[in-house]
Amino acid sequence: MSADLTVIVLAAGGGTRMKSKTMKVLHPIAGRSMVGHVLTAVAGVEPRRVVAVIGTQREQVGPHIQSLMPECVLAVQETQEGTGHAVRIGWDAVPGPEHRGIVLVAYGDTPLLEAESLKAFVDFHAASPAVISILSGKVADPGGYGRIIRNDQGQVEAIVEHKDASDEQRLVDEINSGILAFDADFLDRALPLLSNANAAGEYYLTDTVALARQAGETVEAFVLDDVDQTEGANDRVQLAKMGKEKNRRILLKWMRAGVTIMDPDTTWIDADVRLESDVTILPGVQLLGATVVAEDAVVGPDCTLKDVEIGQGARVIRAHGELAVIGAGAEVGPFSYLRPGTQLGAGGKIGAYVETKNVVIGEGAKVPHLSYVGDAEIGEGTNIGAGTIFANYDGVNKHRTVIGKHARTGSNNTFIAPVTVGDGAGTGGGSVIRDDVPAGALGVSSGPQRNILGWALKNRPGTAQAEVASQAAASTDESGASPSEAQ
Ligand code: UD1
Ligand code: MG
Repeated sequence: MSADLTVIVLAAGGGTRMKSKTMKVLHPIAGRSMVGHVLTAVAGVEPRRVVAVIGTQREQVGPHIQSLMPECVLAVQETQEGTGHAVRIGWDAVPGPEHRGIVLVAYGDTPLLEAESLKAFVDFHAASPAVISILSGKVADPGGYGRIIRNDQGQVEAIVEHKDASDEQRLVDEINSGILAFDADFLDRALPLLSNANAAGEYYLTDTVALARQAGETVEAFVLDDVDQTEGANDRVQLAKMGKEKNRRILLKWMRAGVTIMDPDTTWIDADVRLESDVTILPGVQLLGATVVAEDAVVGPDCTLKDVEIGQGARVIRAHGELAVIGAGAEVGPFSYLRPGTQLGAGGKIGAYVETKNVVIGEGAKVPHLSYVGDAEIGEGTNIGAGTIFANYDGVNKHRTVIGKHARTGSNNTFIAPVTVGDGAGTGGGSVIRDDVPAGALGVSSGPQRNILGWALKNRPGTAQAEVASQAAASTDESGASPSEAQ
């Protein structure tokens, strides 16, 4: 950033229309608070200093802003007396000797705002002799906005607020987005001159425009084609609409960067998600938080993945995951639940109806069917049999299970942690493994099978079960085989 820039973000207003215990600017869109989007755009213009003016529910807003931008100065506006009052409080928080350069005013509730637009606007102001520049736009329905009033030569003369505008002024379709740039020394002179003698009884920041003109200064307007970027969300209906619009813009960005999105209407991608080229997203996918997807991976249909890292060429089908890592070329799904701490190695598999938590599954290792795997380590190349439970919790403490490399565990096993199965070991079907199995050994816990002959005939007389059992007994008697051998 070439200009010596201070940004003042106004975020003190009430937001009562949200009807929420959460302050308006903290409501999320695309995985970030609205004010978070604004701060990201603001950071993109590399200002010297950022001041946030907070007021309503400042005990929520202040810490949130500081968590996102620790260097941001917080200025408290105790009572909301208008944008002019708010900027005065924000500007007062900047030490006198630093009152220089350009001051950019933005609002905290405009989640679609992009750094590129702010940059272009600040550059425009820096290059112009105007003491104020207005980021303006033409809109179909200018109702409620401040109108840009120009003279016969097209020069900006004033901003007139909707409430104070004449019928003729209300016909003007060029509106003030709310984003303004000031020369610092002009702002110093203008702020003390603002009055609240208007329809709203507020100190209007926009009155600085007429003050500049009266002082013989020029004011310019930078018409932003995509003025929707400066729109705020005031209620839940607008929140949903803007959430959808933000998502549309995020998807466009990724498609232009080489990602295939089969159905943008059912795909949701948060602002902080990162995708490499040739990723394919199938319908019904939500990629949330800090999810990262590497080249050639195919995700979907129907996945919700938050803070998940997906390796190159991996395949994830109908899965729900959070804080998990899926290795390159690995397969997940369908119907898999990856809980925090799941790490699936390259070429590994977490298959159908499998829940995992806090487990490292080695390269090429597989948990293919109907299992719960928690607090464990599974070595490379190992296969876990269908229907296995890692019983990690004794009601008080959690314990770990360690399964070595290239092990083969039988179906329907229960591993009672803490327990270790060595490299190359195996377990029999239906085993309950309470004791360690040494490397290369086969652990078998179920006892030998016992058949009680003639049980059905004796205990279920008169039933279909007894009937077919007696028929079977008769036919095997003829062939000479015994019923137990026939099993
Ligand atoms: C303002 C502009 C209007 C513009 C419109 C764009 C003024 C007088 N009017 O009108 O020209 O077209 O935005 O959306 O500037 N805020 C504070 N403290 C206050 C008052 C407001 O922090 O005392 C904050 C609000 O939280 C909000 C922003 O300033 O983020 C704008 O306030 P708002 O009341 O929405 O202004 P509008 O009447 O919409
Ligand atoms: Mg408003």
